[in-house]
Amino acid sequence: MKVILSGIKPTASSTHIGNYFGAIKQFVDLQKPENENLYFLANYHALTTVKSKKELEDNTWAMLREYIAYGLDPKESTIFLQSDVPEVTELAWILNCLAPMGLLERAHAYKDAMAKGKEANVGLFDYPVLMAADILIYQSIHVPVGKDQKQHVEIARDLAEKFNHHFGETFVLPEPLIMKETATVPGIDGDKMSKSYNNFVGAFEDEKEMGKKIMSIKTDSLGVDEAKDPEQSIIVQLLRLVGKPDVIKTVEEKFRKGGMGYGDAKKILLAETLEYFAPMRNRYETVSQKELESVVADGAKKARKIAQETMHEVRRKVGLV
Ligand code: ADP
Ligand code: TRP
Repeated sequence: MKVILSGIKPTASSTHIGNYFGAIKQFVDLQKPENENLYFLANYHALTTVKSKKELEDNTWAMLREYIAYGLDPKESTIFLQSDVPEVTELAWILNCLAPMGLLERAHAYKDAMAKGKEANVGLFDYPVLMAADILIYQSIHVPVGKDQKQHVEIARDLAEKFNHHFGETFVLPEPLIMKETATVPGIDGDKMSKSYNNFVGAFEDEKEMGKKIMSIKTDSLGVDEAKDPEQSIIVQLLRLVGKPDVIKTVEEKFRKGGMGYGDAKKILLAETLEYFAPMRNRYETVSQKELESVVADGAKKARKIAQETMHEVRRKVGLV
């Protein structure tokens, strides 16, 4: 069986449609009998930025509810919280002792923080090593992620190779699984959609709020009758993800010929977004807290068992008697 694993950090109260099309949709589509799927919430990683107990707890439960609402099925996937498998921090330590400083200095989460003049904590610097431990401890082969995580998966691969070289064949070499068309979903300002840029549209947000955000998508100042290039339009890029094929075609044609204003296109985008996510929005309402607790309790048992087996081998191989 192919082990497929991915996670998202609960650093906001909800995921956004960039997370969905970049990562979570793949998680859902990969749920097949021939795959062993593991999906978790990276709450240890979230600690690098979230410093409030309530916020971390609330974010974690909300995102877990979204995982289920999007279609992750506990019967087909092991769904769990990173912190329910503390062995992963032990493996991160062992990998730390193999990770060159230079490799982590080049990692983009840390580099970006430095470039923005932010004060980085050691956790942020070490973020890719903990992520490598997440990936390697379950012997994952495929890691479905958006493009921004590619470098992190490559670091995991490097560290697996280093470990295997020093201590003998132990870890499978993982590969990122990136969907070409949705590698980077743009936010309403045209930058990469991100929880931390406040430019995102959430699949489960209140209709009014979603409307406000979509209506504020950045455009140029071309008038209704003027021809517009669909390739340059954030509206069209988002519509291509959520819209029905005939609707996408109509908007693209009207943009090319002239005859559709940005306001009307945004209204169409809102309607299509709501329609696309309607089944998931309905499911969201029906998931109970009790159900969530039972899902992660089961998931933790399964995930931890695999992690403990790996750690048993790792401890033996590195000489921790
Ligand atoms: P954020 O940047 O919003 O904090 P995360 O870093 O938690 O998002 O990413 C969670 C997952 O979603 C990762 O696999 C990431 O690659 C993917 N992802 C995040 N933003 C986007 C985007 N704008 N387009 C495509 N994938 C994305
Ligand atoms: N770094 C990922 C993000 O920002 C979250 C994550 C942590 C992850 N551990 C992982 C993703 C392991 C894939 C595999 O969203």
